[in-house]
Amino acid sequence: MQAHPENPIGVFDSGVGGLTVVRALMERLPFENIVYFGDTARVPYGVKSVETISHFTTQIAEFLLAKQVKLLIIACNTMAAVASQVVKDLSPVPVLDVIDAGALGAVAVSEKKRVGVIGTPTTINSNAYARAIHEYEPDMRIHSQACALFVPLVEEGWLDHEVTRLTAQEYLKPVLAHDIDSLVLGCTHYPLLKPLLQDVAGEAVTLVDSAEAMAEQTASLLAEMNLANPKRTPPDYHFHVTDVPLRFQTIGERFLGRTLTNVHVEKL
Ligand code: DGL
Repeated sequence: MQAHPENPIGVFDSGVGGLTVVRALMERLPFENIVYFGDTARVPYGVKSVETISHFTTQIAEFLLAKQVKLLIIACNTMAAVASQVVKDLSPVPVLDVIDAGALGAVAVSEKKRVGVIGTPTTINSNAYARAIHEYEPDMRIHSQACALFVPLVEEGWLDHEVTRLTAQEYLKPVLAHDIDSLVLGCTHYPLLKPLLQDVAGEAVTLVDSAEAMAEQTASLLAEMNLANPKRTPPDYHFHVTDVPLRFQTIGERFLGRTLTNVHVEKL
């Protein structure tokens, strides 16, 4: 498929969390059209099996390809961890995923070559971050921790809450014991916990935001492939979801950092 620079970027996630990636893209690439897909009816993916996640991921990628996207971005760390090859195999356009972006980010900032990675149970069990980081830096020491409670805490809006702080202290204790100098936020939801996590981890630890890393990687790829939108008019943003659950608007806008409009409900 010959992608056209004015075509949109397709971004997808298991739910609203991937809007942290859209937000970073909007800030870094303000003239790009974006089509987002969030599987709000079937979220969370972070505790599902590889087979189920691969099946859902295929359906979403096919939906976005039918929208003539010029590039696919897997914003969900869990999907990227277990199904990125599935997407690459079926896509005629380039595919970027947050895990690769986060791995590159970690390699760029870690001086001691000791990095922590936090994510959903499926992401951490897949070992995908460790594999991706080792591809770029074989000597890196990686200490991972699944943080299953962070997704519901963020969706509850408890971004600076005592319960979240205690939970973070508990999860990070074993990781920080390894004298890491950087911590990869390996889940769409964790950028919202940045101030709290920075507090708990201490100033000596640099947080690697995989959403920001993804926006940088996207900018480089578009420039390299001459696929950046040359138009300097306000771009179109469309958000496709499989359900509009309770508090969808509030939670979505918290992730996106702006009003959520052009929301379409889809059946897959
Ligand atoms: N989007 C998922 C991730 O980045 C978190 C939510 C879920 O479990 O589906 O891992």
